[in-house]
Amino acid sequence: MDQQELTVKQFGSNAELYLASEVHSKGVDLDQVVAVAQQRRSVRALDLGCGAGHVAYALARGGAVRVVAYDPSSVMLNVVAEEALRRRHDALETMVGAAEELPFGDASFDLVVTRYSAHHWANVPRALEECARVTASGGLLIVIDAIAPEMPLLDTSLQVIEFLRDASHVRNYRISEWCGMQKAAGFAESSVRTWKTSIDFPSWIARIGTSPGRVAALQTVIPALPREAHDYFKITERLSFQFDTAWIESRKVG
Ligand SMILES: C[S@@+](CC[C@H](N)C(=O)[O-])C[C@H]1O[C@@H](n2cnc3c(N)ncnc32)[C@H](O)[C@@H]1O
Repeated sequence: MDQQELTVKQFGSNAELYLASEVHSKGVDLDQVVAVAQQRRSVRALDLGCGAGHVAYALARGGAVRVVAYDPSSVMLNVVAEEALRRRHDALETMVGAAEELPFGDASFDLVVTRYSAHHWANVPRALEECARVTASGGLLIVIDAIAPEMPLLDTSLQVIEFLRDASHVRNYRISEWCGMQKAAGFAESSVRTWKTSIDFPSWIARIGTSPGRVAALQTVIPALPREAHDYFKITERLSFQFDTAWIESRKVG
């Protein structure tokens, strides 16, 4: 199975859990997405890697005139379509596909948002080039994702536990990597905010359906991480922990 097939399989089997997940359905970042859509007025908005659609609903609440919820998992998109109907978000439509290949014309959107998805993308530079192409001049790209610390030891520790939990994990990028990649794709200097996200170990592994073998590996590997990782990620006896999430925002140049 290639990486994309793995991703679609993992998320397709657990779509409903992402609709209910506290980590995904709540957060001040979603209120801020509503506010950005409201401030910019009449925006055409794209939610890339929409999962169960929490950003797409926020964009619709913010008054976007068109919201496309886009994801490679058609099972996820069925959940979004049903929920959008229930919430009466008439401006919301779903489309299937990966971020690296966007089936939209140039300058189709004023606002492109992606949340907790980019660490699954096989080719982020390619996806950002596509984001730049479909974003209108002066439009905004907002990436919200778990990020890796700049310190290599902590970066490696995070990637190891993410990959053991989920074989479709690619990489949590560092802030410095995000800023460089956004600039290279044709966006202006990025502005960044970060905060801590708490992860409850049992629901974290249940959500993605981590196999018993991988759970056993996590139960061996996490307690054995170096003290620096325990201190930074605030790992508890139950293996719950915290990571950094970032809002990385940049305007399309030209
Ligand atoms: C954790 S869920 C997204 C959560 C959602 N954005 C939210 O805020 O609640 C990650 C999603 O990224 C999608 N995904 C994985 N690889 C992708 C890719 N290459 N392009 C776009 N989406 C991708 C998965 O199918 C999955 O639905």
